[in-house]
Amino acid sequence: MITWNLLKEKHKDIQDRAINSLFDDTRAQSFSIDALDMLFDYSKTNIDDDVRDLLLDLAQPVVAKRAAMFAGEKINDTEKRAVLHTALRNIGGDPIVVDGENVMPDVEATFERMVQFSETVRDGSFKGQGGPITDVVNIGIGGSDLGPAMAVLALAPYHSGPRCHFVSNVDGAHIADTLRDLNPETTLIIVASKTFTTIETITNAKAARDWMARSVENPGTQFVALSSALDKTADFGIAEERVFGFEDWVGGRYSVWGPIGLSLMIAIGGEQFRSFLSGAKSMDDHFRTADFAENMPVMLALVGLWHNQICGYASRGVMPYEQRLSRLPAYLQQLEMESNGKRVGMDGAELPYHSGPIVWGEPGTNGQHAFYQLIHQGTRVIPVEFLVAAQGHEPDLAYQHQLLMANCFAQSEALMNGRDFETAQNLMAQKRFTGEELTRQANHRVFPGNRPSTTLVYPKLTPSMLGKLIALYEHRVFVEGAILGINSFDQWGVELGKELAVALQPIVQGDKTATDKDGSTQQLIKFIQAHS
Ligand code: F6P
Repeated sequence: MITWNLLKEKHKDIQDRAINSLFDDTRAQSFSIDALDMLFDYSKTNIDDDVRDLLLDLAQPVVAKRAAMFAGEKINDTEKRAVLHTALRNIGGDPIVVDGENVMPDVEATFERMVQFSETVRDGSFKGQGGPITDVVNIGIGGSDLGPAMAVLALAPYHSGPRCHFVSNVDGAHIADTLRDLNPETTLIIVASKTFTTIETITNAKAARDWMARSVENPGTQFVALSSALDKTADFGIAEERVFGFEDWVGGRYSVWGPIGLSLMIAIGGEQFRSFLSGAKSMDDHFRTADFAENMPVMLALVGLWHNQICGYASRGVMPYEQRLSRLPAYLQQLEMESNGKRVGMDGAELPYHSGPIVWGEPGTNGQHAFYQLIHQGTRVIPVEFLVAAQGHEPDLAYQHQLLMANCFAQSEALMNGRDFETAQNLMAQKRFTGEELTRQANHRVFPGNRPSTTLVYPKLTPSMLGKLIALYEHRVFVEGAILGINSFDQWGVELGKELAVALQPIVQGDKTATDKDGSTQQLIKFIQAHS
């Protein structure tokens, strides 16, 4: 705890210091990391050399834990599982041994089967009852939805296969609206569920099968399963040749790299998917080998810990200035909050500090016209992470891309520099305000500034770059978890609600009474029963 306390002391001393006063000729460069064609700039934060040194001290537990993860040790120790999503992007790489067995031959064989299958869907040789597949519907939730849904949207310029759709919510509206305009005879349904027990997914999959059965003679032939529960996929009636399995050492929210990414592979093709994997692999290598001060995931995590655990800023805004990354915040919410939203450490004892932050965001510039007001002038400080590409994919719309980048940089500048009272007063005086009214009007136009942000710039959102970005965030979560001493790979906090929902369903249906429920729950049930 010594380093934590030193950091807290240090924060007390410097909390009112102006971030912009830290800039000299070297700050921007020395508080940035330029690696793998990306520039991570954290100079617009209140971190100085002393703070960074202390933060780097905090990172010491990462060394052993990182080695254990890559070596296939069972670091997810409440579930007794290894954590090896990195193996899925190690295609053509070194052996990786779990329980005495090299897992790479199986990983590579499954990858090759995915490539072959997706090619048959893309080239039209795999047919539905009505001919080549025009639409693919991925039915999954959480990690079996957010990764592929985010990546398919992100890589729209690389699509060259059938259209992909995603259904996750058990709300019947989701599947009904998705299937409404599709032709069942040319639709492929992918049921994505690691456990194949998730009630939302299984219910939606059954609804899709009923929909298809109304016009397709053998609907099962247009179904694919992605799962690690092969007995259950067989029970559902999906033939083995269309089941793509993976091991329990791939966590749901880390699974886009393997079979769960099949919809993405169908959309962009095997070659581009390979490049997505190799981008991620290059980030793995960087994470394993770069010195911590130059290690992007490590520094990204340390900046996050500084803001959350030391400065006490409870939330973190992620603002991609990239419309195609509009699902990135939702993806990161699962990745970060399901991983590091824990209350106890590895030893089961309550944490002496807060765990992971609340993560949220929207693409710029849309967010600017919605909630940025609060980030600039609200009473709470919200550190923001900006992301922007140097180039878009629309050469004819280069001016729009320039506007996008200018807006992104303007926001971080405004957050840091703000606008003082004197400037605001001068502005209002030019508008002919005087006396008390001038002061009042000027006060409304003051921006306190000194609000931290980081910016990640990259050349273009290619498949390889997306792979790097996602792997960067995965390792950031890992580093934060290792320093906080928590298990980032289980998710017990989602269980209670699931159990209660199963018990409540017959009550909602009217088959059982709710007498053992609290007064509020009873009242809510009475209301919906009266109105349904
Ligand atoms: O409810 C949480 C969760 O278990 C996530 O961790 C997971 O990504 C999601 O549900 C879906 O699980 P499955 O892929 O087993 O259907």
